[in-house]
Amino acid sequence: MTTFNFDEIIERRSTGSLKWNYYDEDILPLWVADSDFKCAPAILSGISERVEHGILGYQIPSMNNSATAAVVSWLWRRHSWQIKAEWVVWVPGVVTAVNGTCRAFCKPGDKVLIQEPNYGPLLDAPELNNLIKETVNTCMKDGRWTFDFDDLERKASDPKARMFILCNPMNPCGSVLTADELARIEAICLQHDVMLCSDEIHCDLILDDVSHIPAGSLSEIGSQCITIMAASKTFNIAGLASSYVIIPDEKIRQQFIQTTISMQLWVNVLGMIATEKALTECDDWYESQLDYLRGNRQYLKQAFKSIDGFDYKPAAATFLAWIDASTLDAKDVHQYMLSKGVGPTAGEDFGRPNFTRINFACPRSYLEQAIERLT
Ligand SMILES: Cc1ncc(COP(=O)(O)O)c(C=O)c1O
Repeated sequence: MTTFNFDEIIERRSTGSLKWNYYDEDILPLWVADSDFKCAPAILSGISERVEHGILGYQIPSMNNSATAAVVSWLWRRHSWQIKAEWVVWVPGVVTAVNGTCRAFCKPGDKVLIQEPNYGPLLDAPELNNLIKETVNTCMKDGRWTFDFDDLERKASDPKARMFILCNPMNPCGSVLTADELARIEAICLQHDVMLCSDEIHCDLILDDVSHIPAGSLSEIGSQCITIMAASKTFNIAGLASSYVIIPDEKIRQQFIQTTISMQLWVNVLGMIATEKALTECDDWYESQLDYLRGNRQYLKQAFKSIDGFDYKPAAATFLAWIDASTLDAKDVHQYMLSKGVGPTAGEDFGRPNFTRINFACPRSYLEQAIERLT
């Protein structure tokens, strides 16, 4: 197996990176979910070859059969989900697809259920589309975040509830929903005629020995689901605006496509190439990165044990550490972190001000610096 150097320090500030230009220079940025790892060689050479062609005009994503075939084979190889090529709809981004789903299937005044804590732009989607947001509580059970299913059931039973936006694996909590949990969600949604839209952008970043079950593969509700995925987080190509939505049902798919056509969602030409390469030629890099991330997660787990005020319970998935800082001796957790020179994402952005979220997809030396600053 080829070895890859995830310890390499690569300067990013000069590239206009969001992650590296958001905070002042003296703050170590460990926030937005992109990684500081160089992309896999096959992705970079695939992009270079396409650039060599010299013309980068509009493309018809559905004619890019090899990129779609890459998605089909990846989902089968990695998630045992057999899909058909025609179920795949390419879009520039996952958040765009969630907003498109809200517009396509809900009418003003409908209620949209969404778990909290959650990624901010997902929490914003219902209201951006003139819909009523109903948050569903997430709670800690046996050291792992799960749903408050009574809360979900209660809110789904409201006749105005039209859709549930699920985020699985959870961001920021990192849990991967089990078959039982998904079966309960499926039963509740079916019983109350609530549509399921599942953001699964983190599904290829599973660090523990658990399986991700795509919503679209569920036996009863699956065919009616909108499942949204991307190679963007896993392969560090988020700036290349390319994601894919799996919609088995022809009518639902056409309704989604008609709505998104009006939004002119051109998919990035290079993003599709990068996604295809990621899903077909980067297994070594992918496995090595997962190992490196496991090492980073373990490092943080150990390190936080000896720092008062932080309770970090590592989760099964994502490169995001969701840390309870409610016992920290500070009025404002985020300001405290910044005052120490560490720039996480504020817990408040996810709906939980007493938490902080650290992105550990970076060279381990950055985490060592962060811990030194916090100690
Ligand atoms: C759960 C989740 N969904 C969506 C996104 C953003 O996806 P995109 O950039 O494709 O809109 C993120 C980014 O961190 C995320 O964590």
